[in-house]
Amino acid sequence: MPNSPFLSEGILSHQQRITRQPITALFEANPNRFAEFSTRCGELLLDYSKNHIDEAALAELIGLAEQCRLTDKINAMFSGQPINNTEQRAVLHTALRNGGYHLDADTADNINQTRERMLLLADKLQATELLGCTGKPIDTVVNIGVGGSDLGPAMAVDALKKYYAGHTRFLFVSNIDPVHISRTLEHCNPETTLFVVCSKTFTTLETLANANAARHWFLEKTGRHDAIKHHFLAVSTNLEAAAEFGIPQENIFPMWDWVGGRYSLWSAIGLSIALAIGRDHFESFLAGARAMDEHFNSMPLRQNMPVILALLGIWHTDYFAAQSQALICYDQNLALFPAYLQQLDMESNGKSVTRDGDTVDYPTGAILWGGVGTNTQHSFHQLLHQGTHFIPVDFIVGVQSTDPVADQQTSLYSNCLAQSQALMMGRTLADLEAEMLAQGKTAAEARFLAKHRFVPGNRPSNTLVYPLLTPYVLGQLIALYEHKIFTQSVVWDINAFDQWGVELGKQLSKKITASLKEPGKAATEDGSTKGLIDYFQKYR
Ligand code: F6P
Repeated sequence: MPNSPFLSEGILSHQQRITRQPITALFEANPNRFAEFSTRCGELLLDYSKNHIDEAALAELIGLAEQCRLTDKINAMFSGQPINNTEQRAVLHTALRNGGYHLDADTADNINQTRERMLLLADKLQATELLGCTGKPIDTVVNIGVGGSDLGPAMAVDALKKYYAGHTRFLFVSNIDPVHISRTLEHCNPETTLFVVCSKTFTTLETLANANAARHWFLEKTGRHDAIKHHFLAVSTNLEAAAEFGIPQENIFPMWDWVGGRYSLWSAIGLSIALAIGRDHFESFLAGARAMDEHFNSMPLRQNMPVILALLGIWHTDYFAAQSQALICYDQNLALFPAYLQQLDMESNGKSVTRDGDTVDYPTGAILWGGVGTNTQHSFHQLLHQGTHFIPVDFIVGVQSTDPVADQQTSLYSNCLAQSQALMMGRTLADLEAEMLAQGKTAAEARFLAKHRFVPGNRPSNTLVYPLLTPYVLGQLIALYEHKIFTQSVVWDINAFDQWGVELGKQLSKKITASLKEPGKAATEDGSTKGLIDYFQKYR
């Protein structure tokens, strides 16, 4: 049971009270429940009425956020205070969406100039004026990056296919596994391919290896060093390293240390998004995020969508002991959204010390997983409905389809609603037994089968709905989850903007690589690692 000063006994008593009645009883007691437990930001609607929550419990959770001085912390983030306290950095991805924040003139100029450079390049690509070294128009863009330099751009480029400004093909290479770069290059023509090397640090092993492989392939095919400038761009804070790699100065787009990798798709790391959807749609994408920023910054906590989503997540993680949360997108355009959110959420809030360095005594960041409905119904929903785990779900669905076919969208929408309804209502033993008896089963058969068909229900979910997935709506959705994660980090008193946990593996892999190359060195490894190194030597 949590015993942090941030997690109050008052809330615990509400949890105990509310779990004594099913969610369906909350609807019976309040005909206005949908209106009272849903909130909007523009046309985006969050329905959170299918949760074990009522006004009194929500008031306690909001009290908790107030006790953690959430509003002050939001102001601190938006005004550029160094809230990433282990790296002494400001966290200003919101400034990239053109908000009216108190930026110094140089920073504001840098942001605007870089964005204009991105958009001019997008204009050129759209007008087929972006040419390769032999004068042929660029028709393929390959983004090389990993983590935040890949997941966000790859997700948004895939999600916004319907809004492409031209006919360019967009490919993404992230994995150090050589299969990834090899299979990608198989389909590329060096004369018409543009590589965008994205790395905030320009030191990331995977990205540098893949960028080197791409350059090697390009030079082998064209034999022209002078042509690199037509085919390689870079995005980085490390301008020297990008230049040292051989990318000419004028092809390097800057970013800044106050943009976290997983929050960077709004910066030039999102260059492939701008190239794909063009100037107007990219601006609309930023505007959607800005609308969510303004909502987060100005709405009372009780109507504040990111805050509500965050508090429900804390409610489930810390008071209902939920070990994971699922995100199910009933929108094929959002196929990569769960993978994107995994990094955003789990790299941000997968922490176990407070901002001051004390070990937390309460669960923090949830394990996030998910997929695309209706496919997921035929894979893991069985466990959601009848398994032993308590797994709250966020459903995301659009009313209209970007690519309508007959009335399939209506079926998609109805399946989404059916799943959240089934999770909440379940099916009783008595009901099932009656159905079996009506079908002519004996009483013993009916009892036996009913036990297997029993669906307990009373499982919570949120549903996010929009009219149609547009660049604006995608901007809203991403910013919603960014601010949800930030709010949770405030209540959990953790730093959402560093990621020290990923460093150890990076260091060890250097040492192990040396052992793999020089067998004698493996003697210093642990027994298991040494055995696996020996196996590698045998079969390499
Ligand atoms: O996985 C760790 C990480 O540092 C992420 O936070 C980041 O998004 C990714 O590596 C890539 O880093 P970079 O953009 O510096 O290559």
